[in-house]
Amino acid sequence: MTWTRKDFPEGFLFGAATSAYQIEGHAFGKAGPTHWDSFAATPGNVVRAEDGARACDHYHRWQEDLDLLQGLGADVYRFSTSWARVLPEGTGTPNAEGLDFYDRLVDGLLERGLKPAATLYHWELPQPLADRGGWRNRDIADWFADFTAVIMERIGDRVWSAAPINEPWCVGWLSHFLGHHAPGLRDIRATARAMHHVLLSHGRSIEVMRGLGMGNLGGVFNMEWANPADGSQEAAGAAATYDAYYNRFFLEGVLTGAYPEEALEGLGPHMPDNWQDDFATICQPLDWIGVNYYTRKNIAPAPGPWPALQEIDGPLPKTQMGWEIFPEGLYQFITRVSTLAPDLPIYVTENGMANPDVLTGGAVNDPERLAYIDAHLDACRRAIADGADLRGYFIWSLMDNYEWALGYEKRFGLIHVDFETLQRTPKASYHAIAERLR
Ligand code: FCB
Repeated sequence: MTWTRKDFPEGFLFGAATSAYQIEGHAFGKAGPTHWDSFAATPGNVVRAEDGARACDHYHRWQEDLDLLQGLGADVYRFSTSWARVLPEGTGTPNAEGLDFYDRLVDGLLERGLKPAATLYHWELPQPLADRGGWRNRDIADWFADFTAVIMERIGDRVWSAAPINEPWCVGWLSHFLGHHAPGLRDIRATARAMHHVLLSHGRSIEVMRGLGMGNLGGVFNMEWANPADGSQEAAGAAATYDAYYNRFFLEGVLTGAYPEEALEGLGPHMPDNWQDDFATICQPLDWIGVNYYTRKNIAPAPGPWPALQEIDGPLPKTQMGWEIFPEGLYQFITRVSTLAPDLPIYVTENGMANPDVLTGGAVNDPERLAYIDAHLDACRRAIADGADLRGYFIWSLMDNYEWALGYEKRFGLIHVDFETLQRTPKASYHAIAERLR
């Protein structure tokens, strides 16, 4: 169904999201090397071994990009700060050019009447810290706390909101268990440690930002609906395990100070010493919860060690990522968060779809994207009608960008980017949304 601002509560915010490594061009401005550069340089990890060296060249074209964001009629912009751009060694001496860049970006947003929503870490770990064990090393909580102080002492007075870490599941499980993202490990012990240290770092970062007097601090969690592949008890059990290590571990860790039993069944023996003592730090009070949502997975049991499950191809229409389109899952997760944390405002901090968009005659026609967004906004409205305190919705993404291990092929943007000429062309979905937001 189509919508306008009037279909949402007064003050509901519409925004778009990006992340540093995916758009900026990491080769520019004296940024230090990251584990994504090494991961991408290793054959077989990334489609065509593409990396973020140039990306969308947002580092030089940010003013044009912010103008386009303003033209969309957005209220708020979710961007991330690259740790390696600010601290090329991961710790120690800041890179003045990096700090200046985020300073200008924040001012540029404010000048255009846009609220800056900062995420401190969206996956480009400085290589020197990866060399010291990265997320497996408990010291990362101190390193991240120091980075938080350096960047937020500079821009924390002007950002509208801040969240420490984008998608703990991806940092932990996707990167250390499945090996699909940097550092590309497939090791359950590394996974358990990374999953816990991510939350410890989240807590430390929130503490630092509170200490700086900042408010409107939240956590951003990605969630994937776990659908039992059939009606059997075994499939229900497998889906519950998936739900536990994917969706519940981080959210319940932060909100309830405990990890689900179904996740500890496999991860427990590999957790770092005395992990239970860290919840005092992990459970820092938050001001909002962010949900990143794209799809569901159909889960069936599989032979072998824990988690003993597999993903089964599903029957629903799919995006260019091969992800099933399932708006009901977004409704379910908003409702779940709302039940778990009834006093906290919720934001959908990412939602959108990749589509094989082509530029023809200066235009990009992407009705699929608009339909996807409409269906998910419907789910948002249903959740609000049922009592959820949902305050805003961010589209992933403002523009086509580096889709990690899948390179530049998967187009998520409201704005088309020609990766040869770097020309930006707003797609039909951009124009339609601008019209509705007006
Ligand atoms: C999310 C990431 C984002 C992008 C989208 C498609 O998991 O936060 O960087 O890759 O998926």
